[in-house]
Amino acid sequence: MIQPTAFVNTFERCLMQLSSFAGDATTFDGGLLVLGRYADEAPSAAELAVDAALGGALSKAAARLLFKGKPRQTVALDTLGQLPCERVMLQGLGDRADFAPALQRDFAALGARDAKAMRLDEIGVVLPDGADATEIALGAALGGWAYTTLITDDPERPRFAVKGARVIASGDLSAAIARAEILAEAVILSRQLTTEPPNVCTPERLAEVARALGEQPNVTVTVLDKAAIWDKGMGGLIAVSRGSRRDPRFIHVSYAPPGADPEQAIALVGKGITFDSGGLCIKTAQGQTEMHMDMGGASAVLGAMHAIVRLQPKQAVHCIVAACENMPDGDAYKPSEVLTMYSGRTVEILNTDAEGRLVLADAIHYATELKPRLIIDLATLTGAALVALGPYYTALYSDTDGIADEVLAAGKAVDERLWRMPLDPKLAKTLDSGRADGTNLGIRWGGSITAAQFLQQFKGDCGWCHLDIAGPAMADKVDGYINAGGTGFGVMTLVALAGA
Ligand code: BES
Ligand code: MN
Ligand code: ZN
Repeated sequence: MIQPTAFVNTFERCLMQLSSFAGDATTFDGGLLVLGRYADEAPSAAELAVDAALGGALSKAAARLLFKGKPRQTVALDTLGQLPCERVMLQGLGDRADFAPALQRDFAALGARDAKAMRLDEIGVVLPDGADATEIALGAALGGWAYTTLITDDPERPRFAVKGARVIASGDLSAAIARAEILAEAVILSRQLTTEPPNVCTPERLAEVARALGEQPNVTVTVLDKAAIWDKGMGGLIAVSRGSRRDPRFIHVSYAPPGADPEQAIALVGKGITFDSGGLCIKTAQGQTEMHMDMGGASAVLGAMHAIVRLQPKQAVHCIVAACENMPDGDAYKPSEVLTMYSGRTVEILNTDAEGRLVLADAIHYATELKPRLIIDLATLTGAALVALGPYYTALYSDTDGIADEVLAAGKAVDERLWRMPLDPKLAKTLDSGRADGTNLGIRWGGSITAAQFLQQFKGDCGWCHLDIAGPAMADKVDGYINAGGTGFGVMTLVALAGA
């Protein structure tokens, strides 16, 4: 068995120190002071005080730049000794009624990015009236982070990270800041795993991350190795992993606080394909370059679990990941093979690139054995989801309206975009087989829907929801609080769903 590379234990979270500052904004003595102004509203008291200290330079620059308070509109000035901070940034917040959580994170993230570009150690963000201190601190931490582990430092210009962010407001913000710290770590963990190349983020790496969760109270971690997976007869995971020189892992993290009803538990299930070449139905070179991100579902459920086991909600939560590579090889699984899945159902393989649904089917069946109230699976499952909804929306499927509404509400609360899609029994028929209980491939049209309906065959009597995150799991450029690379999409929705 080949070993993962030496980076396996490095975990560069680069989390900035988050704290609060109860003083007057004009006394903030960190590097960058960030102020916000709502569109068509008067400047805040903090802005007026800062502008006065600068002899009116801020309002003058804002007028010259036609500053209207629109989101991402910015005016920045160096203070040249007129204030204890080095630099001041005024940012538009848009309409007060539209200042949703994602825009709050974007606001703080833009400040963190400016501080980073200016090589300033610390930012102070004046909490806008009506904003949530947790979102502001979270946005600063996410905007200040970047995955740089594998970039060699330039001695002429060593890499720079902002060290701290303070939320400036009166009152005790310690609980809000502590929560932001946990959420930031969770999202960054997910982002890092998804961004890591496939020779770093291997099935065993995902298992190591899961084992680390076992140090928290009320947590049990079980990792099945190749022999245990074969013994259990997880036919989907066995088949997909057969072409790989790296062993598969099946991961189960159980969080069970005392007194929690096991039948009220939720199970978070993630697709953990650490590289998807397509297998024998091999993808093009271009189609393969981003396929290290095919464990974005796994990174979302592990990231969420990182927060959940620290926040210790009342309900029990399971986290289940089926992890392996999908590779071509002399022993790789072949089109026309018939697999016997962990549930006992037989599946005729028509395309080895439709592998995610096979490993997920076994993970979902495992979850049904725990008899949870709800199984929610996350997967970078189909290119068709990207075609249907674009890169920002996740396709949501459920055969229970109450569950669909519950998950949509959790997404709305944290401002992660979910869009419910239909399950169509007529389309499901296109998964029928003459040689087995079904195939792994529907007709060409509606590919995200047929993938969902394949999974539905394994949910048993459990409540179930499927999120196809193929679009939002990765971003190709920096955009507000989103980084280029893995986005950590889903972490915040799952934490909300767990009531944490
Ligand atoms: N991991 C891919 C889906 C994917 C594609 C995610 C592009 C993100 C970007 C998945 O395993 C896959 O290959 N799906 C096939 C399914 C097809 C063979 C039915 C696809 O989408 O082409
Ligand atoms: Mn594939
Ligand atoms: Zn895949």
